[in-house]
Amino acid sequence: MVETSQNVVIRALSKSYLEGDHNHVVLNDVNAEFDAGLMHAVTGRSGSGKSTLLNLIAGIDLPDSGTVSIAGHDVSGLNERQRTLLRRQKIGIVFQFFNLIESLTVAENVMLPLELNGEPDRSQRTNEALDRVGLGNLSQRFPAGLSGGEQQRVAIARAIVHKPSLILADEPTGNLDDDSAKQVISTLDESRGESTVIVVTHSMELAERCDQQCVLRSGQIEMR
Ligand SMILES: Nc1ncnc2c1ncn2[C@@H]1O[C@H](COP(=O)(O)OP(=O)(O)O)[C@@H](O)[C@H]1O
Ligand SMILES: [Mg+2]
Repeated sequence: MVETSQNVVIRALSKSYLEGDHNHVVLNDVNAEFDAGLMHAVTGRSGSGKSTLLNLIAGIDLPDSGTVSIAGHDVSGLNERQRTLLRRQKIGIVFQFFNLIESLTVAENVMLPLELNGEPDRSQRTNEALDRVGLGNLSQRFPAGLSGGEQQRVAIARAIVHKPSLILADEPTGNLDDDSAKQVISTLDESRGESTVIVVTHSMELAERCDQQCVLRSGQIEMR
């Protein structure tokens, strides 16, 4: 039985953006729970608020009202520095466009979270993370010398290297061909259990591999 305090719990979460003199409601009093150790798919049309939701969970953005708690910590109750630390230590984030640092090698990119956290055994753990995504042989390359699928697997290695309790992935296969997407899906899949995985996706294949699926529609989350 997984500990419930490890879950991501969202209560009465609302977020609007001002567009001119109009208030655009993106999330309207949303409640949801993402059980620990499972892989969750979040789907929904473009503009439905999927990235907004992930940014609120990660504490990159703040809600107008409501709460997000991760492993029992109320993210919205933390100040900016505390949110940065929580993200660094407990969360791994994967973006659609990889967001690797071009001037660093593959190994240096993956090692970054360990350096920021001042963790020990950095080289060994970097190699382990790269082996897990099947890229142990490319550690000295630069991102520009890799395919899109390889870059995204480096991004996943960087997201898992510090063994976060939560992995957030925003359309991680949105920019990849089918074969690369399959490899990325497998590497995310292998992280479930050790981490809770929340993945925003348009890929039915990825959504169907998840333990739970929900859809964002008209500012609400519907469980499937
Ligand atoms: N920083 C922002 N300022 C103003 N509007 C925003 C901002 N971020 C997102 N939005 C608006 O919120 C809505 C949801 O955006 P987003 O969460 O990116 O949707 P999705 O990821 O589902 O495509 C869109 O209408 C978008 O234009
Ligand atoms: Mg988005």
